[in-house]
Amino acid sequence: MYSADVKLSIMVGNGIFMVIEGLDGSGKTTQAKILAQRLSETYSIYLTAEPSRGRVGTFIREHCLYDQLRLPTEAEALLFAADRIEHMQTELKPALDQGKLVICDRYLYSSLAYQGSSGLNLEWIKSINAYAMQPDFSIFLDVPPEHVLERLHRRRSVMETLEMQRKVREVYLKFVEKGELIVVDGDKPREIVADELYTKILDLLRPVKGYVS
Ligand code: TYD
Repeated sequence: MYSADVKLSIMVGNGIFMVIEGLDGSGKTTQAKILAQRLSETYSIYLTAEPSRGRVGTFIREHCLYDQLRLPTEAEALLFAADRIEHMQTELKPALDQGKLVICDRYLYSSLAYQGSSGLNLEWIKSINAYAMQPDFSIFLDVPPEHVLERLHRRRSVMETLEMQRKVREVYLKFVEKGELIVVDGDKPREIVADELYTKILDLLRPVKGYVS
């Protein structure tokens, strides 16, 4: 047992970078918060999200997600990649350098899934993200597109039509098949998903960087 103020000491400069991906309305933001809360009893956590709160991320949130006049998809992909670099330099890397366990709500696989399903070549998306650091592991919280749209009460962003969500999920699942994303069933009551996610994360954390919890 570890008390709240005796966090497991991940060596400085040796943090863990974890990503949670999923469709809009899949509950990933809520689950990321619950997970961060639980893990914070043991680890020093840095919870963050993309699009980030930085300058490029703020521009994306204000001008790209809800506007009628959309930028060309290539330009969107470049903006998400630029946001990722800014996010990495100003938040992710400093937190990892301090040995924190970073939980990021969306990252590179969001660009592959969303901009990829809008018709862009996945290799090109990877190439413009070549400077983005690799997560230690990435989770895909899987919920059927029909169910996520039922859950979305807020104003829908341009990314949130059923057809689009189906295509996005297909791309995510391709990466699950390749073993790059770890799938967790998100189509269950919130507490059950939270328990399953937590158990999965503890399993993943155990062998990471020789680290035993
Ligand atoms: P989202 O996680 O829904 O943010 P919030 O809950 O704060 O509104 O992300 C906003 C949208 O951005 C979402 O529809 C997915 C999209 N997105 C991309 O298309 N590509 C990306 O690379 C990222 C990070 C997000």
